[in-house]
Amino acid sequence: MAVKTPTPASARDAPQTALDLRLARDGKRRRSRKPDHNPLRDGLRLERVPDPHVFVLFGATGDLTRRKVLPALYQLWRTNLLPHEYRVVAIGRRDYDDASFRAEARTALETFSRVPLETEPVRTFLDRVDYHQGDFDDDGMFERLATRLDGLDQTHGTRGNRLYYLATQSSAFPLVIGQLGRVGLDHEVHGGGWRRVVIEKPFGRDRDSAIRLNREVGKVFREKQVYRIDHYLGKETVRNLLVFRFGNGIFEPLWNRRYVDHVQITVAESIGVEGRGAFYEETGASRDFLQNHLLQLLALVAMEPPATMDADALRDEKVKVMRAVADMTPAEIDRDVIRGQYGPGWVSGEQVPGYRSEPAVHAASETETYVAAKFAIDDWRWSGVPFYLRMGKRLPKRATEIAIQFRPVPHRLFREAAVDPEPNLLAIRVQPDEGILLRFGSKVPGLGLDIRTVNMDFTYGSAFSVDSPDAYETLILDALLGDASLFTRADEAEAAWGIVTPILEAWAGRPAPPFPDYAAGTWGPPAADQLMETDGRRWRRI
Ligand code: BG6
Repeated sequence: MAVKTPTPASARDAPQTALDLRLARDGKRRRSRKPDHNPLRDGLRLERVPDPHVFVLFGATGDLTRRKVLPALYQLWRTNLLPHEYRVVAIGRRDYDDASFRAEARTALETFSRVPLETEPVRTFLDRVDYHQGDFDDDGMFERLATRLDGLDQTHGTRGNRLYYLATQSSAFPLVIGQLGRVGLDHEVHGGGWRRVVIEKPFGRDRDSAIRLNREVGKVFREKQVYRIDHYLGKETVRNLLVFRFGNGIFEPLWNRRYVDHVQITVAESIGVEGRGAFYEETGASRDFLQNHLLQLLALVAMEPPATMDADALRDEKVKVMRAVADMTPAEIDRDVIRGQYGPGWVSGEQVPGYRSEPAVHAASETETYVAAKFAIDDWRWSGVPFYLRMGKRLPKRATEIAIQFRPVPHRLFREAAVDPEPNLLAIRVQPDEGILLRFGSKVPGLGLDIRTVNMDFTYGSAFSVDSPDAYETLILDALLGDASLFTRADEAEAAWGIVTPILEAWAGRPAPPFPDYAAGTWGPPAADQLMETDGRRWRRI
């Protein structure tokens, strides 16, 4: 049970910013800004550091923990964005003790950290990691956990603050949340002691299961304690979309049906299912990507400006636009939503197997590894402007891009020119080569009047000399600071499922197309190209 612990002296003196922390760790106090003044940081906010807390990690031995969560925590620790009074309690079924789990955690960092490891930060980071062994259906395990966490508050000044991170299989979410509630680990303590839960995707399998899951979560936690994570929202370029749209005056007047012809959102992956065949058989591209990452990008592109950057103001606008996505009849789904599955082929010079030959995949699997869809948004801003979304595994390259295709000029003035200028295009490269490109027509130098399309290109790499944080670093830090803007609210998750569920239902009612229908290393099934050709358009070559 939660105990209100006396505030230890070290916690009372807790540094407030990353700079304070660094000085404190070096045994110094901040005297004046001058000696540390770094002109490159002028205008940047001094990062806030979260309160002392315990990071309680469910799914300690899973892939996500190794690849993303531990490296993100290490990076936050290394850059002084975590407080001194900070512990990780990692929970899993396997039989580790603290020392053997720390050795595993070190291997994970060696393999997946995005920065070279430094001896001292790694040591101090791992010193703060404990392992708690047990099954999620074992009541005793949760009771021991409650006692252990209370003990840490006493011995390490973590002040009753806890972030529960659910990096488990989604089927375990209700059980873990129910157990946390049963032993009272959800209760926030008056005057200190916050409790928050981060829930990984997929959040449900369809609209009904998402509603049920929200209900289960709501029996234990209040909505303001719940952080449903979609890591695409933590990507630097995705966050920049808000700044780009609402922090600049010149784009918003063009951002509507009057000037925009259509929008294309592409997530191409060259990887296959990477040993996650069993997971993919359950999800497919629609549940893995369309319901979350792709629809989140659509919402950020299409939403109205929020009145403030308050988490709820932002999410209200995203929910509104998701609700405005037009319902589709089964016939429209057949016409406008394409599914595909990769067969064997070549990617980046390497011969790769088809999806049906991946480990843990059924030999006659009908799971889609590609999805493309055309959505209409029924509101004043977007009426008549199609949004084309596509996502595929084993495409020729890794690239995520949002392309706003503008309408052609109303009057062809340069008929005599050898080539008409192509309509303007704004392409936001989410990854890799993060940047923003504006395409426009320009006269070719010379005596004639030839016109060619040219690009004005902004790249993050050359404009800023800093590395972007990984999305998990951003989102974990936000959750620790209590900022839910980049997390999905209950109604938002349900609204996104409201768009995808009719598609899944329509597909469940009829046989899949003859799979495999695209070779690994190609741009998806021919039906996806036909979807565009029927509308007189084509997918952008990226
Ligand atoms: C995950 C999906 O959410 O995102 C994976 O489950 C996918 O299938 C991954 O590969 C892609 O993330 P990123 O950040 O590499 O684009």
